[in-house]
Amino acid sequence: MSTITLDYAPFPHQVELHCAPQRFKVIAGGRRSGKTKSSFQEILRYALSHSNSLCWWVSPTYNEAREVGFSEFEKYEEQLQPAILSANRTLMRVTFRNGSKLYFKGADRRDSLRGRGINFLSIDEIAFMEEETWTKILRPALADKQGQAVLTSSPDGKNWFYKLFQQASKPTSTYKAWTWTTYDNILISHDEIAAMKQELSTFDFRQEILAEFVSKSGQVYDDFNEDNIIKDFKPSQNHDIYIGADFGYANPTFLTFMAVDRYSGNVYQFAEIERSHTKIQIIIDEIFETLSTFGVKEVKAIYTDPAGNADEITSGESPVDVLRKHFTVHNIGSKIAPGLSLVRSYIKNAAGKRKFFISETCTKTIEAINGYVYAPATRGNQSIKEEPLKDGIHDHACDALRYFFVNCFPQNRYLTDDIKPKSYFVEETSKPIIKKCAKCYNPFVSKTPKDVPPFLCTKCFEEQ
Ligand SMILES: Nc1ncnc2c1ncn2[C@@H]1O[C@H](COP(=O)(O)OP(=O)(O)OP(=O)(O)O)[C@@H](O)[C@H]1O
Ligand SMILES: [Mg+2]
Repeated sequence: MSTITLDYAPFPHQVELHCAPQRFKVIAGGRRSGKTKSSFQEILRYALSHSNSLCWWVSPTYNEAREVGFSEFEKYEEQLQPAILSANRTLMRVTFRNGSKLYFKGADRRDSLRGRGINFLSIDEIAFMEEETWTKILRPALADKQGQAVLTSSPDGKNWFYKLFQQASKPTSTYKAWTWTTYDNILISHDEIAAMKQELSTFDFRQEILAEFVSKSGQVYDDFNEDNIIKDFKPSQNHDIYIGADFGYANPTFLTFMAVDRYSGNVYQFAEIERSHTKIQIIIDEIFETLSTFGVKEVKAIYTDPAGNADEITSGESPVDVLRKHFTVHNIGSKIAPGLSLVRSYIKNAAGKRKFFISETCTKTIEAINGYVYAPATRGNQSIKEEPLKDGIHDHACDALRYFFVNCFPQNRYLTDDIKPKSYFVEETSKPIIKKCAKCYNPFVSKTPKDVPPFLCTKCFEEQ
């Protein structure tokens, strides 16, 4: 028997996972806490130490199986060479010389999950899969061989993964569960976590960093209060002006007028328009009227939903088509949950700072924010996706607001394309750059492009 040495030294919390004898190991972990790395090591160890075993790595999507799972394999491929018989990159199937097979799969391709006789399963970000994928497809596939599984995820509200986690938390010889926080990963400095605090609301910080199962119930923007409401706001030269828009015809069209302070990055809503059964041309006239009331000469962009409410079109031209004749209109797609997180972080971040302010004259938006609640998380016995209630009253203003934020502050993690739970906030697209603080003029390191906040160094930001 030959020995293979892998470049992996588990941190103390990961050692606990590797040493536990239970058949099902469940981890609720904060972002970057080391879930993927250690569960990959678990599956690898199993495949190499059990001849002729069938092992599956399953990610929520096929793309994630490649980008997260298979790329973890590739990091070790060279060291594993003596043990590998073949590795098919296209199919993401590895066969080891001991006869074991390691396949990488995506839960979005359900048909590819039909299988039997699996010896070992590593399921990454399981909370972002359908409950039935585990209960009806993957769990039964372990039955014939009494297979084992490592199930890891960051929490996604109190959805079905919470039940599974609770079940696994009762001490038995079959299940064991752990909570890992981002702090457990000793490679991540506390400064970096402090920076995340600025980017996340308290709710999201508890969920994403501390891996708490925070219930998504009640008010969506529960940190919103009078501290976000201001009197007499008038945009100045320091502000860039944008409009967030949710178009409708029978449903109301809602527009939120936003001013972004170029130096602090603070966002101010200074006006709103709500109209039902109103032609787009009339709405455009009203937009110009509102802008002139506030002395605004230039609107950088109107941000709206990707569909531009195609089903509300009355004339063959969508509102967005008409609007494009007068304004720059952007509408990138975004998933709801990360969009809500982004808005929440502006309402109040985990460091207690507010960066979104609204004029007291925007009464409809204020009412909408206060009345925006989560739909019940269960229907009968079924747990359903935790999303805000579309009551036709509060959702339009809140949608317009969200479209503004996700378009104006786009970050990889807020885009629909291949959104990965893991990519919510750590994956940066650009290399760190040096910016000059708008207040003290000292240089500081930033990971966002030059024309995107932050414009202040951490010290000035904290002092604001
Ligand atoms: N024991 C370790 N030794 C060295 N690096 C590690 C170790 N554990 C984790 N890391 C590194 O820490 C980072 C986060 O690890 P990993 O991707 O496993 O975390 P995660 O919890 O899956 O994160 P995400 O929430 O992004 O999915 C990665 O860069 C990984 O390589
Ligand atoms: Mg991961």
